[in-house]
Amino acid sequence: MYRVRKGPVIAVALVVGFLFFYFSPWDVSSSVMGTQSRKVEEIYGLLHLVTSDVPETEHVLSGPQLDPTQKLDLQVYAAGSELNWTKQANHIDKAHPIVVFSKSYCPYSKRAKALLKSYDITPPPKIIEVDLRDDGNVIKQLLTRMTGHSTFPNIIVQGKTIGGSDNLMALHASKELRTIIENAGAKPRGDGPEVVL
Ligand SMILES: *[C@@H]1O[C@H](CO)[C@@H](O)[C@H](O)[C@H]1NC(C)=O
Repeated sequence: MYRVRKGPVIAVALVVGFLFFYFSPWDVSSSVMGTQSRKVEEIYGLLHLVTSDVPETEHVLSGPQLDPTQKLDLQVYAAGSELNWTKQANHIDKAHPIVVFSKSYCPYSKRAKALLKSYDITPPPKIIEVDLRDDGNVIKQLLTRMTGHSTFPNIIVQGKTIGGSDNLMALHASKELRTIIENAGAKPRGDGPEVVL
C-alpha cells in the first residue's frame, strides 16, 4: 500500500513558496532598488516637522481635530503636501541622525545635551525644545505612542529612541555611545566627559 507522507510535502511546499515570494521575477526591480521600497515609519513625519525649516508646518499639530493617540498619516506632518517619504527619511537620517526632544528648563535634558555636546558631533544633534513650541503637548503624546518613552529628553537616533538622560549616561559609561553615533553616520570628535556626570 502507498501512502503520501504529509510532512515532507508541506516542507517542500513551504520552501517553494518562500523562494517564489523572495525571488519572483516581477519583484526583482524593487528588491534591487532597495531603498525605494523602504517602509517609512510615522516618526519620520514628526522628525520632518521639527527639522524642516518650512514655517507653515509648525502649527499642523496644534490644530484642534487631531488625535495624537491614533496613528496619523505621514501627510499630516507635512501639512497635507505629498512628499517622497523614502527620500525625506533618507535625508533626515543623514542630515539629522540625532534628534533630541528636550525641555528647556529640565535638568535631565540639560545633562543629556551637555554630554552630547562634549562628544562634538558632526552633524550636531538637532535639539528640539518641546516646551517652547505651541504643539509641545501633542509632541509629548506622539513620542509616548511611537517610542514608548514618555519623558524628556527623548533621544532619537535615526528614527529609534535610545531613551533619556540615564540611558545616555549608561551608554556613555559602557563606551557604546561612540559606536551608536558612528553607526548613525555621524562623527564624534570628542570622547564625552571623563567622569560620568
Ligand atoms: C523617492 O525617492 C527615492 C530615494 O531617493 C527614489 O529612489 C524614488 O524613485 C522616489 N520615488 C518617487 C515616486 O519619486
